[in-house]
Amino acid sequence: MSELLDDLITIRDWLRWGASRFHEAKLFFGHGCDNAHDEAAWLILHALHLPPDRPDQIAPYLDARLTRHERLAVLELLQQRIARRLPAAYLTHEAWQAGLRFYVDERVLIPRSYFADLLVEGFAPWVEDPDAIEHALDLCTGSGCLAILMAHAFPHAQIDAADISADALEVARRNVADYDLQERVRLVESDLFAGLGKRKYDLIVSNPPYVTAQAMRELPAEYRHEPEGALAAGEDGLDIVRRILAEAKKYLKPHGLLAVEVGHNRDIMTAAFPQLPLTWLDTTSGEGKVFLLRREDL
Ligand SMILES: C[S@@+](CC[C@H](N)C(=O)[O-])C[C@H]1O[C@@H](n2cnc3c(N)ncnc32)[C@H](O)[C@@H]1O
Repeated sequence: MSELLDDLITIRDWLRWGASRFHEAKLFFGHGCDNAHDEAAWLILHALHLPPDRPDQIAPYLDARLTRHERLAVLELLQQRIARRLPAAYLTHEAWQAGLRFYVDERVLIPRSYFADLLVEGFAPWVEDPDAIEHALDLCTGSGCLAILMAHAFPHAQIDAADISADALEVARRNVADYDLQERVRLVESDLFAGLGKRKYDLIVSNPPYVTAQAMRELPAEYRHEPEGALAAGEDGLDIVRRILAEAKKYLKPHGLLAVEVGHNRDIMTAAFPQLPLTWLDTTSGEGKVFLLRREDL
């Protein structure tokens, strides 16, 4: 170890070493970065107290020499990523979506929803006037990331954010407070709609658990640190989606919209609900991962 600290001097040295070790250990990258270089950059920037909202921010510092103390901090973080197979976001306790920082720990799924792009654009063209949205719901809110993005996208809306996990809601509470949105985002412990009361919504957005039983069995080690209840959704991954579809109509205003993320399950979904006129949305991060319905279609 002391040899390493003597041999690796610059950030470029540590970035190369980290990427090599990550490849060697066959880590999986699916929580914010999709390759070893970016994940190592993210952790190095964090260890050095340089804001890591984009891994390419490391470029100006590549030839900077590190103090021994800094080298130790970098080494420790890179080694933990390998030894514990923890996604970087759980080591740094932060995840970035649409340029916003969210606190995360193992009580919540690491934010990576396809909804982020759609919400940044005010859910256009499906929502014609973001100013006209009065009530919106983030069902299965986890860290609260989508509720917070909705609060930004729809400046006059009251947002309800529901989750069955009290632990997840603690994390969401912290994020909502970080954005000073306590007056506009109501956090509700609720089994889907059960605890929400009589309110009706212009828009319901949900990124529910949707991993099939087979995919759960094959998950890389990194995903096993995430709450099982945030991922697993029965044999065909649609257990929660079925319940949402059965109940959503009651909670939508006339012409209200329901948008649900189902990831890779588009074919399973269309086979299971041939009668539904699903509109599949494209985002910059993926095509056909989110479907949209109007109240009148349900
Ligand atoms: C895939 S995570 C999504 C979290 C967050 N919306 C995001 O995009 O990062 C699914 C969330 O649904 C919650 N959940 C699972 N079953 C639920 C249920 N029956 N009612 C409400 N929330 C549920 C889990 O606790 C988890 O936080």
